[in-house]
Amino acid sequence: MTREARRRAAIAASATLPLLLAGCELGPKETTQYGPRGAAMEQVVNLNLKQDPGVPPPSAYQLDTREGQRAREIYPELKVLGDISVEEFGLLMANITAWVVPADAAPSEQGCNYCHNPENMASYEKYTKTVALSMLKMTQNINVNWQQHVKQTGVTCYTCHRGNAVPQYNWSFKPDEDQTTILGNKQGQNTPVQAVGWSSLPNDPNSYFLGDREIKVVGRALHPGSTPNDLKGAEHTYGLMMRISGALGVNCTFCHNAQSFQDWDISRLQKQTAWHGIRMVREANADYIQPLQTTFPANMGRLGPMGDPLKVNCQTCHQAQSKPLGGISMLADNPALAELGAWHSAASAPDAVIAGGIVRTADGIAGAVAVVPAATASAVVEKVQAVRASLATPAG
Ligand code: HEC
Ligand code: HEC
Ligand code: HEC
Ligand code: HEC
Repeated sequence: MTREARRRAAIAASATLPLLLAGCELGPKETTQYGPRGAAMEQVVNLNLKQDPGVPPPSAYQLDTREGQRAREIYPELKVLGDISVEEFGLLMANITAWVVPADAAPSEQGCNYCHNPENMASYEKYTKTVALSMLKMTQNINVNWQQHVKQTGVTCYTCHRGNAVPQYNWSFKPDEDQTTILGNKQGQNTPVQAVGWSSLPNDPNSYFLGDREIKVVGRALHPGSTPNDLKGAEHTYGLMMRISGALGVNCTFCHNAQSFQDWDISRLQKQTAWHGIRMVREANADYIQPLQTTFPANMGRLGPMGDPLKVNCQTCHQAQSKPLGGISMLADNPALAELGAWHSAASAPDAVIAGGIVRTADGIAGAVAVVPAATASAVVEKVQAVRASLATPAG
């Protein structure tokens, strides 16, 4: 190499170095500082990858008043919506149709007929009506009992469904194919999927969204070995964190102060919101979706490969936004979804509802129980039902 060629090579190398250091993602970035200066608590958004929050459809019409004849007086068999006015009931049915029934449904299934037999609106001969009843309860429960997460913004069927019968982002249990490889069980590692940011981390973080699997990396006690977490648990936790970040379209420092990922005091409030979100998702899946396992038809793509229904995770609502739909609330036009209907009265509700290791009683959250070992879906259901049954018969 001549001196000149060496000089050129050196210049070329020093010119490409900043490019390499800038990371793999080229293109314009937007940086917002959230925490104290120097703590590196900032959000870096790649503007080329930023997604549009979407615009919710307008309500079929506006409700002027909630007064008037109660729906129950005309439809005595209503289980959830009996206490609202006939007018409001009709509006909600119209909005639900727009949110959930796909535009390309078969002619005989279009509109109201997706859930109803037009000859007998009260009947439950279509499985979709049974599912919708549970979904109504789930939506009311989220809006009333999980305001630590959804605040006053709340959710409607549209937050998840967006005009699809089956929400686009869902999950179900996967067969454990790893066990059969000659290299033993690799626990979902080194099989990069988008959910964990194409990293080599364990690739099924969804199993954290049902049951009470512990989320932690840092030991909780002084002596190693005295806390029930191991390296595998740590790797799974990081896989979950990648999943959560991707679902919201944010970086780790949206919730954490990188000085200590464990410390709540120096974290952003969003970490607490997320903590409640994880428990909210577990409850939605365990109490309202998993019990529909036998309701869904087996051959229509409504059940996953292990036979469990398609469930919710953060992405189902968030869809790469830190607040779903950019934080727009649709509850003002659909107030019945923001209150608990008759189904929740003492007569129909179980003494306590159990999900994700939390016992919820009339007075609030009573305490944690080890309910679910995050095994298979059916084991989870049996366990939840067993604990429920034991609660229904008070000892002594
Ligand atoms: C996604 C499913 C779904 C769609 C679509 C739907 N409904 Fe419903 N409908 C329900 C559920 C669930 C109930 C029961 C609610 C309850 O018990 O509180 C119900 C109840 C009713 C009832 C009361 C029946 C009775 O006598 O008990 C009427 C009337 C009704 N719907 C009308 C409509 C109309 C009109 C449309 C179309 C504009 C429609 N529904 C679309 C799910 C649906
Ligand atoms: C938190 C997310 C979420 C919300 C909110 C939600 N759903 Fe669902 N819904 C789901 C998921 C996930 C499925 C898919 C279950 C499956 O296929 O196994 C589903 C399935 C359904 C189905 C079955 C459709 C079919 O063709 O099989 C109906 C009907 C339905 N939802 C109605 C509603 C109604 C009505 C509301 C509002 C009152 C609502 N959902 C709110 C998540 C949600
Ligand atoms: C949307 C908020 C949010 C984002 C974004 C997020 N986390 Fe977390 N993280 C949490 C919450 C909440 C917990 C505690 C979960 C629990 O206890 O159930 C947690 C726990 C952790 C822990 C366990 C700490 C301990 O207690 O042992 C680590 C490590 C961690 N996160 C790392 C990360 C990394 C790395 C990223 C980015 C890839 C990230 N987190 C992104 C909310 C978030
Ligand atoms: C049923 C729909 C739904 C699901 C599922 C859901 N969220 Fe949310 N989340 C919301 C709504 C609605 C808000 C907006 C509340 C508000 O207006 O402040 C929100 C807000 C948040 C925020 C605060 C954002 C901010 O800008 O302050 C965080 C963090 C968050 N969610 C994390 C999560 C995580 C993590 C999960 C999964 C474990 C999750 N969410 C699942 C509906 C949902």
